[in-house]
Amino acid sequence: MKLQFLSLVPLATIASANWAKNLNYRSPSEHHPSLGISIHKVVKRNDPRSAYDASTLNFTHGVASGDPYPDSVILWTRISPTSDNDKSNVTVSGTVPLYNHDTEEYVSVSTSPVCVDYKVASDKNFSSVVDSGTVYTSSDVDYTVKVEAKKLEPYTTYYYQFSVCNSNNKSPVGRTKTTPKADDDITKVALAIYSCSNYPFGFFNAYGNPVRKDSVDYVIHLGDYIYEYKNGDYGWGQSIGRVPLPDKTIFSLYDYRKRIATYRTDLDLVASHQQFPWIPVWDDHEVADNTYRDGSSELNNTESSFASDGGVSVDQRKMNAVRAYFEWMPIRQVEMDDNLRIWRSFSIGKLVDLVMLDTRQYDRSITDLYWNTDYVHEISNDAGRSLMGSRQEHWFYNSLTSSAKRGATWRVIGSQIVFSRLNESAAYGDANPLDYDAWDGYEANRNRTLSLLYDHNIGNNILLSGDSHASWVSDLVWLGGKPYNKETGEGAIGVEFAGTAVSSPCPYGANITLAQANNYSTWLQNANDELQWQDLYYRGYYELHISPEEVDAKFFGLPTIVSRNGWEISLANFTVKSGANKLQRPVGGGVVESGSLKGGKVVQTNATVDTNNGTWFVSEAPLEVL
Ligand SMILES: *[C@@H]1O[C@H](CO)[C@@H](O)[C@H](O)[C@H]1NC(C)=O
Ligand SMILES: *[C@@H]1O[C@H](CO)[C@@H](O)[C@H](O)[C@H]1NC(C)=O
Ligand SMILES: *[C@@H]1O[C@H](CO)[C@@H](O)[C@H](O)[C@H]1NC(C)=O
Ligand SMILES: *[C@@H]1O[C@H](CO)[C@@H](O)[C@H](O)[C@H]1NC(C)=O
Ligand SMILES: *[C@@H]1O[C@H](CO)[C@@H](O)[C@H](O)[C@H]1NC(C)=O
Ligand SMILES: *[C@@H]1O[C@H](CO)[C@@H](O)[C@H](O)[C@H]1NC(C)=O
Ligand SMILES: *[C@@H]1O[C@H](CO)[C@@H](O)[C@H](O)[C@H]1NC(C)=O
Ligand SMILES: *[C@@H]1O[C@H](CO)[C@@H](O)[C@H](O)[C@H]1NC(C)=O
Ligand SMILES: *[C@@H]1O[C@H](CO)[C@@H](O)[C@H](O)[C@H]1NC(C)=O
Ligand SMILES: *[C@@H]1O[C@H](CO)[C@@H](O)[C@H](O)[C@H]1NC(C)=O
Ligand SMILES: *[C@@H]1O[C@H](CO)[C@@H](O)[C@H](O)[C@H]1NC(C)=O
Repeated sequence: MKLQFLSLVPLATIASANWAKNLNYRSPSEHHPSLGISIHKVVKRNDPRSAYDASTLNFTHGVASGDPYPDSVILWTRISPTSDNDKSNVTVSGTVPLYNHDTEEYVSVSTSPVCVDYKVASDKNFSSVVDSGTVYTSSDVDYTVKVEAKKLEPYTTYYYQFSVCNSNNKSPVGRTKTTPKADDDITKVALAIYSCSNYPFGFFNAYGNPVRKDSVDYVIHLGDYIYEYKNGDYGWGQSIGRVPLPDKTIFSLYDYRKRIATYRTDLDLVASHQQFPWIPVWDDHEVADNTYRDGSSELNNTESSFASDGGVSVDQRKMNAVRAYFEWMPIRQVEMDDNLRIWRSFSIGKLVDLVMLDTRQYDRSITDLYWNTDYVHEISNDAGRSLMGSRQEHWFYNSLTSSAKRGATWRVIGSQIVFSRLNESAAYGDANPLDYDAWDGYEANRNRTLSLLYDHNIGNNILLSGDSHASWVSDLVWLGGKPYNKETGEGAIGVEFAGTAVSSPCPYGANITLAQANNYSTWLQNANDELQWQDLYYRGYYELHISPEEVDAKFFGLPTIVSRNGWEISLANFTVKSGANKLQRPVGGGVVESGSLKGGKVVQTNATVDTNNGTWFVSEAPLEVL
């Protein structure tokens, strides 16, 4: 007995090096097994007698990559014996059900681990492999695989592929790209920026178009990658064959896994993940509507609401959502001991510092929960309120000053919610005219950010935001810093590009007409000095093309998302010159396609962008641009 035990220990130790290579086993940390998945216990289930036949395993959701560094990138896949997701909640209770072949105490075939090889090469044919390895996955992590590809060269394109060990069962080939080194003088980088993809509301064509155009280096997602609702509560997916599973409001770990897995069947989303490295952050709906540190809009502090909320506490629901997100997204967990931390930054040569915030889940003070709007309005100017919590705020301000100090040309800040002040009394009424769930509900946090930029003379700031399902382009303005001239833009300290949704509906009416939408846009543009362009009508995305001289923003609108198609039109183009800290005049070149442009014209030309070689209708097969 004892001898046998001793002889097993070294084997398990060697094997665990490979296990921990799958980063999804490391959270919260392989150093704290009692808090996460005990790799030791999973290793014990690795019995050849219950191993899978490789041909029965399926790469169910393609491949993905993300969080690029100059010498490494995260690679992701899922290799599963079933297209369903793992239902076990073993990680909640901390006990892993073991299959003991000798005593046959507990039989669970679905817990057998799977062995996967991966390789990374600088060419599509894998003739020059630069990194490779072997990892395991299992039901404990929903059969997801997340590895860090290393030994890579800066700002270089790579191809990668997974395969089931000792078999011919291979994943699709993915393409990815490292970032330049922080001190590299690069002359251009391009980003596609997204938010708010809602499965039952439409097809994710917006994700596919940059793949068809091969127009960017990296994809930024500002959150609302999934929605937690039951079909019918928000969205009517049955009419287009897009009812998100499970067909209910989601609460459990299984629910969140299944929901992300459903979204990840959209072929344009799969294609974007396969083609581009992603740098995503979550907003509220990755957990629930209007979340903040301690709850969400659907949380009423009553015992009966606890029961009707699927029997899951707020904290547990958040942990379920966060766990599934980290399992499924190709991102780094920068602090292995805290999987609520997603805020992180990236240096893209001397050109850009990209600062990705979490204004939502980490440590946000109470938000607008619909029944408390008057209260949040009353306290919105309270100095103690924060969107980020003091730890993240401190890091954020430090990131801005050290970015300026190191001489990075541009500071690009990814925020979930809209930053600039927006009087929306036309829609909300005069009593509470602002969106208190956006930065407008946290004025002191915004003032601290702006005063830092003005006081330290930090320029070339580009704010990116999502969440609102509409486009808002503003000069970044703070009257506490400098007076602002809306005609010339003098006094601004940067620019905000807030983008519309991939598919979530217009906030001024899901089925609004173009004329009604433009009418509202005109009102909004007139009521807000710094708001230079506004559009409510189009679903879509935007691209940023960044050089040392300027940032060019190109906004694209998708005329129809009730089918899978590549049709897009150019809505508006903006330029920010280095050192100018405002939109170049005439803003948008003086003419946009839709919405309302301050001092400019709206001319409807429906100028189509050719994303698919002359045909908007794309084949059912995933795109193979690579
Ligand atoms: C593999 O997964 C894909 C996507 O879920 C599915 O369409 C396909 O039928 C699966 N193949 C097998 C052999 O199970
Ligand atoms: C977890 O599993 C236990 C026992 O199998 C069950 O009673 C409990 O409801 C499950 N919890 C969740 C959140 O699914
Ligand atoms: C890669 O493979 C393709 C066809 O499979 C071939 O035409 C090409 O020459 C190969 N390239 C290299 C570098 O081996
Ligand atoms: C919470 O309270 C609001 C306002 O009374 C109500 O509309 C909502 O249905 C309640 N939600 C739950 C889950 O009880
Ligand atoms: C933020 O700055 C604005 C403009 O100067 C000012 O009106 C407001 O009172 C400030 N709020 C806080 C909390 O500092
Ligand atoms: C919008 O149109 C859809 C599909 O025709 C319909 O089901 C839905 O009820 C409409 N929504 C509103 C708010 O009118
Ligand atoms: C345009 O909006 C105004 C309110 O700003 C409203 O009074 C008017 O009826 C709207 N017109 C149309 C055509 O929707
Ligand atoms: C919002 O805009 C309207 C129309 O310009 C104006 O009457 C109202 O005073 C504004 N409210 C605030 C709080 O700025
Ligand atoms: C935006 O710029 C592109 C060229 O890059 C041009 O084809 C397109 O028409 C412009 N769109 C608008 C609305 O001016
Ligand atoms: C442009 O497209 C809109 C809606 O997509 C349509 O109503 C309009 O007639 C088109 N205009 C032109 C000039 O083709
Ligand atoms: C685009 O279409 C044209 C004509 O249909 C065809 O000759 C050409 O090969 C196509 N190009 C690509 C890249 O598919």
